[in-house]
Amino acid sequence: MSCSSSNMHEKDDAMNKADSLLNLMTLDEKIGQMTQICFSTITLDGTKNLELHPDSIRKAIVHYNVGSFLSGTGSARNWLDFISEMQQIALHETRLGIPLLIGVDHIHGANYIDEGTFFPHHLTISCSFDTSLVKQYARITAIETSSVGISWNFAPVLDVGINPYWPRYYETFGEDPMVCSMLGAAYIESYQNTCRDNSMKLTACGKHFIGYSDTKSGWDRTPAEIPWQKLYEFHVPPFENAIKAGVKTMMANSGEVNGQPVHSSRELLTGLLQNKLNFEGVLVTDIKDIQKIVEIHAGAQNEKEATLLSVNAGIDMSMACNSFDFIKYLKELVKEGKISEERINLSVKKILRLKYDLGLFENAYAEEQSLEMIGTSEHRKFARKVAEESVVLLKNEGILPMDPYRQKILLTGFAAHSKKMMNGAWTLEWEGAEEKRQPGNMPTLTEALEEKMADGHFHYIPVPEPGDEALIKSFNARAKSSDVILLTLGEKPYSEFKGNITNLKIDPQHEWLFNLAKSTGKPVIVLLIEGRPRLINDINRNCDALLFVGYPGISGARALANILFGEVNPSGKLSFTYPASANHCTPYYRKHSEKYTPLYPFGHGLSYTSYKYSNLKLSDSIIHGDKQNMAVSFNLTNTGEKPGKEVVLIYIQDEVGKITRPVRKLAFFRKVDLQPGETKELTFMIEPVKNLSYPDESGNKILEGGYFRIIVNDLERRFYLDY
Ligand code: BGC
Repeated sequence: MSCSSSNMHEKDDAMNKADSLLNLMTLDEKIGQMTQICFSTITLDGTKNLELHPDSIRKAIVHYNVGSFLSGTGSARNWLDFISEMQQIALHETRLGIPLLIGVDHIHGANYIDEGTFFPHHLTISCSFDTSLVKQYARITAIETSSVGISWNFAPVLDVGINPYWPRYYETFGEDPMVCSMLGAAYIESYQNTCRDNSMKLTACGKHFIGYSDTKSGWDRTPAEIPWQKLYEFHVPPFENAIKAGVKTMMANSGEVNGQPVHSSRELLTGLLQNKLNFEGVLVTDIKDIQKIVEIHAGAQNEKEATLLSVNAGIDMSMACNSFDFIKYLKELVKEGKISEERINLSVKKILRLKYDLGLFENAYAEEQSLEMIGTSEHRKFARKVAEESVVLLKNEGILPMDPYRQKILLTGFAAHSKKMMNGAWTLEWEGAEEKRQPGNMPTLTEALEEKMADGHFHYIPVPEPGDEALIKSFNARAKSSDVILLTLGEKPYSEFKGNITNLKIDPQHEWLFNLAKSTGKPVIVLLIEGRPRLINDINRNCDALLFVGYPGISGARALANILFGEVNPSGKLSFTYPASANHCTPYYRKHSEKYTPLYPFGHGLSYTSYKYSNLKLSDSIIHGDKQNMAVSFNLTNTGEKPGKEVVLIYIQDEVGKITRPVRKLAFFRKVDLQPGETKELTFMIEPVKNLSYPDESGNKILEGGYFRIIVNDLERRFYLDY
């Protein structure tokens, strides 16, 4: 099911209709459209559970004219009924019958629908370096999300994973701005071009504009200080590319940048986002963020002043959540002449245009039969493929792959028999639902391994703890009769500030467990189930194999079984730097004067086969001027005995810059399929302005003549830009 994004004619049409409707609206009706309320304000029990409170919903829709709602959890059937009932009230019990815009955080698949397909989180997916995989994943998420009548998804995160302490690191597409740009745009295009039926379209939401991930402390929603040049070079690209890809909505960063809460920064939200980057869609606040200008940032005296600042900064909709004060204050501000009605009209027009564009005026209801499209076995299978393509084999001392009929495995660890640990946070609940609410028909790692192994070859033991002598004893006894110990280590799921940590080192209990396993003398394989790279130097040194898994989702256990037993050849590469030291977490695009001291560098990832890069050639050694392109080509050979997929990473080094240059920056990536013995010639085209320039502190591109290098694996060529 796909429908093309709106053409010019449809856009004009939506604009004209929005204009006409706007002319009929009172100020109250307009401000209501700028307000988004949480489901917990309109449900019977005041939670995200999907049962409407008949009075509260009418208060919101009929009395306050609220035009948008967010966030629930439940079965597909509940979702569909809940939304249909709300739309019914909006369409039939209000003066103008404007349909509602329903939003959700489906950030790794349809993760708030019980039957939904829960994909790996984005950090894991980004290790696949595969845009086509991301497109298909976004398409499935769009189909499942829209099947219950939700047209707005607060995804993807476009923040760059620049600081591993940041508790939302796992929501990013890794540390590289280009990878974040390409995967983010692939997600947006595919998501927005998928239709629920022939008329209804969907919108993604690029978030969180801008600089959210680069806080000094690494903690959530704490100050970031980012020079403008750095902002343009490393943070703007994913957002800029998302706008080019047609993203219809954006969410603002909840934190502060350079002393300004972003929600009150006209410089960032209007100057940069709207004027410079030409974003014309709807800009929504993050949750309760107008209040947070006062309560967290102390950036305004009171909420009314914060409302004035935020609307003047450029926000179109307030994710007010459980308070209607935004409506009250905004109305007062207009009456007092502090905000003009023209300013209100600007935002309301964008919101109405979006609703027309999404086809909500034609059909605001999901169809009964579309429920069948949620969580199908095809979708599950694809979620497995995504995990298989994304897991990174970091170390292998010849122990992998294993033979399920010959080797005996003992499994333990925090994720060994837990669905919650595999799905991670943002799964049915904000911090991940408790075990009993996790999907019934999802195998844990224990079950997935058991399925594959010969009888009596697999054993699971619950996690032994220091002092639990009985369990330690049976662990040791079982280890004796096993060939390999498989451990899941890492960290428990967390969301936002709940994941703030003071120490990047892995929890001591995980180290203790590793040492216990190691003391048996058996080989130990470690699966890292974690949201960010926790420090594991000793574990890394002493283990026999190590895999970065992240939170791999509903089919992650089966994907891991396939990788461990060699049915799938691992092909993921790190989309981030795995640090060795808590105080030295530099991304790979460091400056020349900085040292790079990773445990595993960006781009690291092993396979069960081997590859050789050869014959790196440039079509010329000089590029004359900014219009001449140059071809880079090389051969890639699978020199091993198994078919495999190699992520090819091509870097450019600008040898000298007026503004000092990173030692290298990724210019291209591609995943290539190769049979044993097969060679492919790969060609990439360097365009000077696109690939060799960098932005100054005003965002203008600087192109400087001089020497550059192309770096492909262990090969390098130098060329000159005559400019
Ligand atoms: C998060 C956003 C999310 C919003 C709505 C906020 O706390 O920062 O990423 O979209 O909640 O759930």
